[in-house]
Amino acid sequence: MKIFITGGAGYIGTHTCVELLQKGYDLVVYDNFSNSSAEAIRRVESITGKTLTLIIGDIRDEDTMMAAMEGCDAVIHLAGLKAVGESVEKPLDYYDNNVHGTLCLLRAMKINNIKTLVFSSSATVYGNPIELPFTERHPLQPTNPYGQTKLVVEEILRDLYRSDNSWKIIILRYFNPVGAHPSGLIGENPQGIPNNLMPYIAQVAIGRREFLNVFGNDYPTHDGTGVRDYIHIVDLAQGHIKALEALELPQCTPINLGTGQGYSVLDIVKAFSNASRKEVPYIIAPRRPGDIAEFYADPSFAQEFIQWSASKSLEDMCRDTWNFQFKNPDGYRL
Ligand code: NAD
Ligand code: UD1
Repeated sequence: MKIFITGGAGYIGTHTCVELLQKGYDLVVYDNFSNSSAEAIRRVESITGKTLTLIIGDIRDEDTMMAAMEGCDAVIHLAGLKAVGESVEKPLDYYDNNVHGTLCLLRAMKINNIKTLVFSSSATVYGNPIELPFTERHPLQPTNPYGQTKLVVEEILRDLYRSDNSWKIIILRYFNPVGAHPSGLIGENPQGIPNNLMPYIAQVAIGRREFLNVFGNDYPTHDGTGVRDYIHIVDLAQGHIKALEALELPQCTPINLGTGQGYSVLDIVKAFSNASRKEVPYIIAPRRPGDIAEFYADPSFAQEFIQWSASKSLEDMCRDTWNFQFKNPDGYRL
């Protein structure tokens, strides 16, 4: 089976490529390298000892993409912009890349008669929790333009399926992906100052940053700091394969990919210090605007529907993040 992966050179893409290649799938990666590089693909090939087809292109370039996907059986669509703060400043870029880009992809798929799709959505589509844990039936009320682009695409996919129910679509709503491949060759490679907790802590531990700002310690959680559902990137990548394998029947189904277990900022700091044997100095800073106290999944539908559940622990997440950070102190070059 030949899979077309948009955004396959990115953080989630490279880990998904490794799992797919190891399972014997043929791959065509399509990426414009706006947040990645050919080096990431070289590392995927080195981990697996297998090769893939790499095509450098933008998902908004419909003709190039149409030609690139010829002969593929299914698509995993990961290409997109993902920084919440930037999406508030540049909403048009986000709608153009994430929504217009996806429309181009869907048209190209239709013309090529490829109707099997796994789409990267985000738990961010739920917005502020009305009830926890989040089930897939929770209302969808994203609170920022990035989340809106994911919701709009989800709605497009639901409309597409209603119009032609031969499509086979799974929408994956990721919680907080962290960690790295155990080889330490691929991992998250943020440009500039990381927005997210785990890469920030890793940079403090390696000495690139002096201390962590803990955004608020007065939330109604067990230690006052924000609680999230962190999921190991290898578990997440394997979820894509389970989703593909489950796509035998026509459908358009959303699925949470999370562990169901929430950890606080201070839980993560402690676990990371243990894994790295490094101090992670921190100060308590004001709450980050827009943050919420707790956010975690009910992952039971994924188990029931695609026979997937996360197997890696918080210790694994911290150890593998540290291993990647230690081996690539400045990330890998774009
Ligand atoms: P990433 O930035 O590492 O990877 C995205 C890849 O897409 C990059 O290689 C980038 O070069 C490519 N890309 C971006 N725009 C493109 C375009 N117009 N044409 C072709 N390629 C393009 O991000 P990631 O963390 O791997 O995220 C992958 C997907 O998962 C994104 O859609 C993101 O919104 C979604 N997601 C990520 C997270 C997370 O925390 N990492 C959480 C929820 C959802
Ligand atoms: C953020 C995004 C979300 C995205 C997710 C991907 C926002 C509002 N949401 O979620 O859309 O899907 O990343 O993983 O940006 N924290 C600190 N200090 C830091 C960084 C973070 O204390 O320097 C705290 C935050 O307040 C939060 C927790 O750590 O309680 C996790 O933060 P982060 O990694 O940014 O993820 P989310 O906010 O859950």
